Amino acid sequence: MNKIVIAIDGYSGCGKSSTAKAVAKDLGYTYIDSGAMYRAATLYFLDNFLSPTNPHDVEKALGSFEVSFHTNPDSGHQETYLNGLNVDKKIRTMRITEKVSEIATVGAVRKILVTQQQKLGKKKGVVMDGRDIGSVVFPEAELKVFMIANLDIRAERRQQELLSKSELVKLEAIKKNLAERDRIDSSRSESPLKKMADAIEIDTSDISFDEQVAKIVHAARQIIDKQ
Ligand code: DC
Repeated sequence: MNKIVIAIDGYSGCGKSSTAKAVAKDLGYTYIDSGAMYRAATLYFLDNFLSPTNPHDVEKALGSFEVSFHTNPDSGHQETYLNGLNVDKKIRTMRITEKVSEIATVGAVRKILVTQQQKLGKKKGVVMDGRDIGSVVFPEAELKVFMIANLDIRAERRQQELLSKSELVKLEAIKKNLAERDRIDSSRSESPLKKMADAIEIDTSDISFDEQVAKIVHAARQIIDKQ
């Protein structure tokens, strides 16, 4: 059976990653978290005191970091590595979350990561989530999904997710961060977040997680069956 590429884009905190992961599992596809790659790049900039607005710093960073994914044999979860070190937990902290949108505006960083993402999806059978997957990384993706959700609901869900990792963050701070990331991600000149004309929109505000996964799997199976 022919495999397809599923591109899932949308605003921060809509549940793109967990949805994409579940869709991939259902279809037996590979899940790729493109946001984790921008987060790992951000960690590299911060840990090495490099500024994304200083061209010399950007040049220094570009040849020096490599992001890869490896499956944890115990949990079965895919984890993010930066230069061979497992950074999966580190890249989800607020320290990184507050800076990542700024690093993601740097064209040279995007170029490198997009090339890596395209390589990872070359064999198809992938579900990739991010902000520019349907527009730039895989404009030919057979299925494009654009996820949206109400800001209050997104903030509450994100707070619960952080709490489950023992990070206590005030709701207002999360809301502010989500709104700010949406603003930067949608207004940047390099590959801004936007809904493509051929994408299906899913508002996750009032539907359950299982429902949103089922909608995407259903749409994917219809396309796969017609191939
Ligand atoms: O999906 P996420 O919240 O982990 O993504 C972190 C940031 O990375 C997000 O604020 C914008 C950026 N990003 C991007 O610009 N392009 C992508 N394909 C994925 C993420």
